[in-house]
Amino acid sequence: RVFDALGIVVMPAFTDLHVHFREPGFTYKEDIESGSRAAARGGYTTVNLMANTNPPCSSMDIVNQVMERVGSVGLVDAFQCVSITSGMQGDEISHLDLITEPVKCLSDDGKGVASSGLMLKAMQKCKEKGLVIMSHAEDASISKDDYRLAENLMTWRDLQLCRESGAHLHMCHVSTKEAIDYITQAKLEGLNVTCEVAPHHIYATDSLDYKVNPPFRKMSDIEAIIAAIKLGIVDAIATDHAPHTSEDKRQGAPGISGIETSFPLCYTSLVKKGHIDLCKLSDIMSRRPAEILGINKGRIGVGCEADLVIVDIEDCYEIDPQKFASKGKNTPFAGDKVYGKVLITFKSGRIVYDYKDE
Ligand code: DOR
Ligand code: ZN
Ligand code: ZN
Repeated sequence: RVFDALGIVVMPAFTDLHVHFREPGFTYKEDIESGSRAAARGGYTTVNLMANTNPPCSSMDIVNQVMERVGSVGLVDAFQCVSITSGMQGDEISHLDLITEPVKCLSDDGKGVASSGLMLKAMQKCKEKGLVIMSHAEDASISKDDYRLAENLMTWRDLQLCRESGAHLHMCHVSTKEAIDYITQAKLEGLNVTCEVAPHHIYATDSLDYKVNPPFRKMSDIEAIIAAIKLGIVDAIATDHAPHTSEDKRQGAPGISGIETSFPLCYTSLVKKGHIDLCKLSDIMSRRPAEILGINKGRIGVGCEADLVIVDIEDCYEIDPQKFASKGKNTPFAGDKVYGKVLITFKSGRIVYDYKDE
């Protein structure tokens, strides 16, 4: 439920299934404290951390270190993904036998698993352990249209392996018409698959020259994704928050620091344009992603945690990366005028972000 008063709206706080907080190893780009502040500033109180750290997250030791840091910062709840392959390379997956609570998801971020046999084994392991497997099929290659076929094939393959294993497969940052068509078909067949879409892939097209994986897509792709959101095929908005320094961006690092612009990009391109209403947006930013993680959040009701966000949907303002709490100021959207400003974020009834403190 959403309560509206003259443009000021109270909503369940958001849950982000896909973020890079870069700890351990790349804390010059982001760390758990700056990432948590950025999340709270974006209206998020739950994040799912990717495994492409240094070293990659392949053990409970690293998971536990990360969870301890998240807890001591205390601004958001977090889950840590474990990489499908040990150290994110080779074909070793015996480390998965040691994975226990609180891990919910496996992921091989930024590459996709090339070997189908290996991906099947990992999915069978997920099925056995009740874990979600996150597929970055659309990162399988790194450029524009000439690689589109490879990416779509990887999506299609992972859906076949999902059918064979029965594992819960979650498709990351779905951005092509073909991929969303395959996923729609798979859902109609009853496969155990969910999917997420990134705000920047809805908000902008490939006329924008900015490096991100998957790349910006064509208008026809965006239309297909929006149609799928309306039909309920898209389970979640996930930011793929990928903070980098300006030097790393100059050297070609892909990604957008996106967690602080997620709500305004979605509100402006989906709700303001009349494609969906605010309740539907709340559904894919809060309720459904929380459900995928198996946590009791994302709704306002008895027994739910009081994780809330107050937003102003009337205020039109300019995106200013210098105000980001994230260390990563990398966004192609600086100066864009958007609607949907996060005013206050509550985590378990306590204020973790207040715009008045800026
Ligand atoms: O743009 C991206 N950035 N895509 C990825 O898959 C990885 C991410 C990162 O870690 O920077
Ligand atoms: Zn990815
Ligand atoms: Zn990612």
